[in-house]
Amino acid sequence: MEQTGTPHHAVRGRYLSFARLEAAGSSRVYERLALAVQADDAAVALLCALPAGKAQPNLLFGALRWHGVPVDAPGAALAWLLDHEDAVRDTLLERSTQTNEAARCAVLLPGLAELAARTDGPLAVVEVGASAGLCLLYDAWRYRYALPDGREHVVDGSAGSAVGLPCAVDGPRAERRLPDAVPAVAWRVGLDLSPLDPSDVDTRRWLQCLVWPEHVDREERLRRALDVAAELRPSVVAGDMTTDLAPLLAQARRHLDDVAGLGRGAVVVTHSAALAYLSPGERGAVRTVIAEAGAHRLGMEGRAVLPDLVDALPEQVPGDGRFVVSLDDVPLALAAPHGSTLALL
Ligand SMILES: C[S@@+](CC[C@H](N)C(=O)[O-])C[C@H]1O[C@@H](n2cnc3c(N)ncnc32)[C@H](O)[C@@H]1O
Repeated sequence: MEQTGTPHHAVRGRYLSFARLEAAGSSRVYERLALAVQADDAAVALLCALPAGKAQPNLLFGALRWHGVPVDAPGAALAWLLDHEDAVRDTLLERSTQTNEAARCAVLLPGLAELAARTDGPLAVVEVGASAGLCLLYDAWRYRYALPDGREHVVDGSAGSAVGLPCAVDGPRAERRLPDAVPAVAWRVGLDLSPLDPSDVDTRRWLQCLVWPEHVDREERLRRALDVAAELRPSVVAGDMTTDLAPLLAQARRHLDDVAGLGRGAVVVTHSAALAYLSPGERGAVRTVIAEAGAHRLGMEGRAVLPDLVDALPEQVPGDGRFVVSLDDVPLALAAPHGSTLALL
């Protein structure tokens, strides 16, 4: 059950750090809006009274856009919010931040390919926190890695993929560490508290509202990626990763045993911007389930989510808002939260 109520200082701090660490340099509109919210006692009081997970900036801002509020005018947006508290509260309680970003596949793909290269047989992918399943469809996208020297390294997931994922790459021997092809995925499934149907009109509009205002390329990509998912229908089952993961891993293993031979291939649990929703203890428990199943873990999460990985980063890495990409507890790269950049370590 969700805990109700967040202290005033915690809500203010959350919006302040969202403005400074997450929105700054990526969305001036949300940076200004977050600063305005944290400075407004009435808005903070409204957020404090919500269940803890419901007071977060991405959710509030998505809800405002859902109601057609001009988020680029913070004063007007706050006035509207305080005049329509009940309507906004209902939206916040009904919906959650399920931002689904196909471009995160671009920052996970090198890790997936590295794992495939080490593995005798195909992969089975189990994505926890899969939303509408866009990050299960590695082979549906066209990866367009921009190299430091201006050239592009293209990896085509499937012939004629209509959805391109541009990603600026750097780091030592960057080009040699990018794959030439998408590894074979023999079986895939997503697990989510609330699986989303990519063809549902309301779901599509909500996911569009979660894309940050200046990110027009992302909006267009989301629309086309959802069209692809609506056709391919990746399987995303309803469940909680803290309790329902082990049976899926066993199912994945059985499938690989059937198609590839006993013990061949590898099961990999993928996650992006998903473990953030768990408590530290729950994150540890999920990692234990993965290890006990003999599965691998490939993920990208914010730095506060898996602090042991941050401790393992090279000393010279700057502390910024980039996510850490890791494979089996080894940091591989830093990446922009929505997958537009990849700095290989
Ligand atoms: C921000 S979305 C990320 C979606 C996708 N991984 C991506 O990167 O585009 C996080 C997802 O995690 C799901 N989620 C949160 N807690 C969960 C849990 N305990 N078990 C399963 N899914 C969870 C949410 O419902 C949401 O769809």
